[in-house]
Amino acid sequence: MLYIGVDLGTSAVKLLLMNEKGGIEKIVSREYPIYFPQAGWSQQNPEDWYRETIAGIKELVSECDKSQVAGISFGGQMHGLVILDKEDNVIRPAILWNDGRTYKECDYLNNVIGKDKLSEYTANISFTGFTAPKVLWIKNNEPENFAKIEKIMLPKDYIAYMLSGVHCTDVSDASGMLLFDVKNKCWSKEMLDICGIKESQMAKIFESYETVGTLKADVAAELGLSTSVKIVAGAGDNAAAAVGTGTVGDGNCNISLGTSGTIFISSKKFGVDANNALHAFAHADGAYHLMGCMLSAASCNKWWMDDIIGTDAYAEEQKKITKLGENHVYFLPYLMGERSPHNDPNARGCFIGMTMDTSRADMTQAVLEGVAFALRDSLEVARSLGIKIERTKICGGGAKSPLWKKMIANIMNLKVDVIASEEGPAYGGAMLAAVANGEFASVEDAAAKLVKVIDTVEPTPELVAKYEERYQKFKKIYPAVKALFPEIA
Ligand code: XUL
Repeated sequence: MLYIGVDLGTSAVKLLLMNEKGGIEKIVSREYPIYFPQAGWSQQNPEDWYRETIAGIKELVSECDKSQVAGISFGGQMHGLVILDKEDNVIRPAILWNDGRTYKECDYLNNVIGKDKLSEYTANISFTGFTAPKVLWIKNNEPENFAKIEKIMLPKDYIAYMLSGVHCTDVSDASGMLLFDVKNKCWSKEMLDICGIKESQMAKIFESYETVGTLKADVAAELGLSTSVKIVAGAGDNAAAAVGTGTVGDGNCNISLGTSGTIFISSKKFGVDANNALHAFAHADGAYHLMGCMLSAASCNKWWMDDIIGTDAYAEEQKKITKLGENHVYFLPYLMGERSPHNDPNARGCFIGMTMDTSRADMTQAVLEGVAFALRDSLEVARSLGIKIERTKICGGGAKSPLWKKMIANIMNLKVDVIASEEGPAYGGAMLAAVANGEFASVEDAAAKLVKVIDTVEPTPELVAKYEERYQKFKKIYPAVKALFPEIA
């Protein structure tokens, strides 16, 4: 049998065809635009996602025996608000996970309703990218659109709906809405009331490995696939990536270097940190996880390479970096504001420490190091909770760089396990579809059988010591410039 994993990302949809032994038969990627209508805002058209997903599936299955395709599942960019009217038409462009417009609504939720209550109801507090403050923003700023809302959906769930006709979501993605009682895995009545939402406007909740329906007849005919193809709930992209890298069960770690950067720690038990600095979400394996999320990770390097120095030769550029641990330039990677752990939509990127002898390579190095230092900030929160992490998996576009992996290993003092397939969310999505079709007993079973570690990048004491010194300096920069950001932003 064959399984399709759809990773509905921010820059593109990546689709992967996997056979029942876990072998990858084909990968396809299709881009769509992202719009920044104002500084700090970010939107996409759900219709673009769907059009490219359909085109991508057609390309993906063009050479295989289509009768063998048994299931489709997803990893999707989290938190995005998709609103549908009573005809199930999209009301307005989706507001994405890295959009910072809801700072007033977050202030209301965190400080008027109160962080304690939010944490009690949902296990989390409000961040600008989360879905509930976006619903409040629509209510406050676009009342005519608010009045039309029949269904509130997340990005990948919109695609699952278009394929199956079922308004569905899964526990991991629902966790990032701030409308979901993570511990009890149900909608929070209190949060729905606070946001003026009726439960009938919310989708039906599934575990990530559960089947929500089958392919609609018209879509099946268009794709040349059977109407018996299972549409499986799938997961938020980070939980799907964790499945794809085998980060399941208890106390395992995955780092994703995509548009966002995340550190993901799987846990058998539900738990919340006292300051809610890390997100406490449900996992796609049926249990829970903690996660820190930075809003710009590989996107900082892309911005620096493509837009500023104007090159697409990323590997060539990185070859010029020869003095690991010895840079006097620092970069704060807050190009879209920052979520974990600062929760500051006004934070901005900055370079500091340049001198007349600073080279282009030093600046490139600072960008890569800045992302790793900022990820370490979240790792430190986890360590402060007594969680012992000695090794991590890694995935996402940035994970293709051997240099960046070496920096991560030494800055975070972690052994970095490199796996055979770095296609995190798309592979995880295909695995979830295979689990739903009975190929594996559970998500953990699938991970144990399919995910292979092929190499480990070990930290070295000398570099760890050099980077420790630099991290202690990096840590002081944000507090020193923080007060300026609201004026600059
Ligand atoms: C996670 C988050 C991002 C997006 C990116 O909380 O906001 O990782 O899911 O796709």
